[in-house]
Amino acid sequence: VVVRSFASDDLDGVLTLCRAEGWSTLPADPTRAHRVLTAPGAVSISALDDGAVVGFATALSDGAIDAYLSLLVVAAAHRRRGIGRQLVAEVFRLSGAQRLNLLSEERAQGFYESLPHRRAPGYRLYP
Ligand SMILES: CC(C)(COP(=O)(O)OP(=O)(O)OC[C@H]1O[C@@H](n2cnc3c(N)ncnc32)[C@H](O)[C@@H]1OP(=O)(O)O)[C@@H](O)C(=O)NCCC(=O)NCCS
Repeated sequence: VVVRSFASDDLDGVLTLCRAEGWSTLPADPTRAHRVLTAPGAVSISALDDGAVVGFATALSDGAIDAYLSLLVVAAAHRRRGIGRQLVAEVFRLSGAQRLNLLSEERAQGFYESLPHRRAPGYRLYP
């Protein structure tokens, strides 16, 4: 598995991973999704197995202190092989951030708690 920066050719594969999780926001508008994943400050990483996108992470970073993980997914058939951990490591490396903040889904807690972390209550606000 190769872990590297997101490229435009990865978009379809990323949207397929989102659909498989029931996440509709990015797939709803692929042009917008591409804009979001390549926005200034966005750090987007793909994991490829034989050319197919099997994992993806995107975070927003200030470049030095904080990054915010927006999305992390590994294809069901590729889980528990260290790909999620590699994606997080690459987000840290490419973002330059000291800490990665995120809202976790309950089912991902085992993964996040396997990494060095501190827990804090989280909120997601809406306009
Ligand atoms: C969460 C997710 C990205 C983890 O990806 P992954 O490639 O399977 O994770 P890794 O193989 O790097 O796991 C690293 C460690 O995390 C822990 N871990 C991973 N998945 C776990 C699980 N389901 N339950 C308990 N611990 C888990 C283990 O300690 C694992 O190490 P080990 O396999 O040597 O025991 C993946 O399960 C996923 O895409 N889930 C669905 C989408 C999702 O919930 N995304 C996060 C939304 S906030």
